[in-house]
Amino acid sequence: MAFYSDELIDEIRDKNDIYDVISQYVGLKKKGGTYFGLCPFHNEKTPSFSVTPSKQMFYCFGCGEGGNVFSFLQKYDNISFPEAVEQLANRAGIELPKREMTAEEKRRADKRTKLFEINKEAATYFYKMLRSDHGKRAYEYFKGRQLSDETIKNFGLGYSDHYSDDLYKYFKGKGYSDEFLSESGLCTIDEKNGGRDKFWNRAMFPIMDQNGKVIAFGGRVMGEGEPKYLNSPETMIFNKSRTLFGLYLAKKTKREELILCEGYMDVISLHQAGFDNACASLGTALTEGHAGIIKRYTKKVLLCYDSDGAGRKAALRAIPILKNAGISCKVINMQPHKDPDEFIKALGAEAFEERIKNAENGFMFRVRSAEEKHDLKDPDERKQFQDEIADMLLEFSEEIERDNYINAVEERYHFGIEPLKKLVARRAQKGGIIKEERTEIPKRKANVNENISERLLITWLSERPELYPMIKKYVLPEHYPEGIWAEIATLLYAQLDETGKPEPAKIMQSFTEEEEHREVARIFNTTVGEFPDEEAFQRALKESIIRVRQNAMERERKNMDPRDMEGLKRIVEEKKFIDEMKRGLYNG
Ligand code: UTP
Ligand code: MN
Repeated sequence: MAFYSDELIDEIRDKNDIYDVISQYVGLKKKGGTYFGLCPFHNEKTPSFSVTPSKQMFYCFGCGEGGNVFSFLQKYDNISFPEAVEQLANRAGIELPKREMTAEEKRRADKRTKLFEINKEAATYFYKMLRSDHGKRAYEYFKGRQLSDETIKNFGLGYSDHYSDDLYKYFKGKGYSDEFLSESGLCTIDEKNGGRDKFWNRAMFPIMDQNGKVIAFGGRVMGEGEPKYLNSPETMIFNKSRTLFGLYLAKKTKREELILCEGYMDVISLHQAGFDNACASLGTALTEGHAGIIKRYTKKVLLCYDSDGAGRKAALRAIPILKNAGISCKVINMQPHKDPDEFIKALGAEAFEERIKNAENGFMFRVRSAEEKHDLKDPDERKQFQDEIADMLLEFSEEIERDNYINAVEERYHFGIEPLKKLVARRAQKGGIIKEERTEIPKRKANVNENISERLLITWLSERPELYPMIKKYVLPEHYPEGIWAEIATLLYAQLDETGKPEPAKIMQSFTEEEEHREVARIFNTTVGEFPDEEAFQRALKESIIRVRQNAMERERKNMDPRDMEGLKRIVEEKKFIDEMKRGLYNG
């Protein structure tokens, strides 16, 4: 990781105040020495995301995300550490020395570049083939599906010839190796038959990334046949669960929402009809990865999945994923047609615009789907349905939002508002509590009480360095649990010895993993509520000091061989020291 010197990293961090940087992305309000805002990393309605300039750290008390100014950008923009360093150096007007890539990095970078190149070459090849004599049938196929020349051009559509190895030969002629061709997903190599093309005699749909670079292909049989679509396998530059077909064009839309549909043809028809905000996940269910990408462009999605059973199921799965990412969604009803492509052909753009206006709220769509499974005339089934609604309502952590939906349910089903509220409350007790807003987060959240005294000492040392001489008398780095705790303590004590100034954000720099940054941020942001006065704080401080030493002793005792007489003696000494320390602390 040693791309840049530590001194340079320190300088860049010093010149990019964390408040200045983060406040460009997140609205922050001051509270004491800390700023609070809505966490950009999980969905919440009350601010638990904190930025503390004195520590040069951010930490979310809700989801546990945390780090310094570099980790913030890495996380927010999904970039690497060197990229974050470069961005912030740029921001501070610091010139970076040209950094040498490691051999491994260079190999990967070269391969990426080559993969982009070969996909572009393939796209050009297919595109030209479509316009050649060989491509007539494919061109007719597209025309038969009512695509205009302009649309064909905009989406870069093409044709893969009916020979099963012409692209392979073409690439071999350009000097590409078998190994690389196979890795690109465009050709398959096997011992018996040699190199063959992945796609042949298919109508070709290039898949672009968000910057408009071709990263993969879908190829459709022209007419009937299996599989209907063949897709490039995942490669270093093609990750299905983070790619949306058409997003590169859709992100330029002036409309407020994105339309999310199922297939290549749906996206293309919608664009041609003037809905330039359409995109699709590629034959896979919507993932959190997709939601994360969508969120960069909009907070509102119109779901436009097929009206068959599979499409409805896919919509029911997608709605909570979008909601968890903080994206609200509505569902477009295309009945009696199957998909947007058919709908537009049958009824036209204006009718589709009308369907957008009448799109159904995602929650109500789920309720209505649940309704279909029950015969509401049967009292038992009616109750089951009501329970299901109540459970869905529990997903809203805000009472006011829940009430809005209770009213909406009331309007349609007339179960009575009060009975429904009571049912919700009862179901809540049964299931524990009202569900948290952030359903996907808790797995990350470490045990809140784990090593709390150790964490408090570290937090206090970083906030009130004047306590250091007193704390150091009793607690040394070796008294913190091994691993990240002891490492932090060692670095913090060294800073306090050397300069008297704690720099948590710098300490963070010694850790490279995202998971570690979260943990370091958590350790430096430990609280046990506010203290009414200094006396109460001092009491807590003493208790924590004693607790840390006791914990250290306990750990030693546990790890000790009972026959180890030396060890036993040490423990007796230790116990004596702690008793004396208690007396000293409470009397002196
Ligand atoms: P559809 O079969 O609904 O595709 O599958 P479509 O776009 O409406 O196809 P047309 O109109 O018949 O040409 C939806 C999506 O699922 C993926 C493709 O991304 C497709 O667009 N899919 C489907 C595959 O990857 N492989 C298949 O065999 C079928
Ligand atoms: Mn379809």
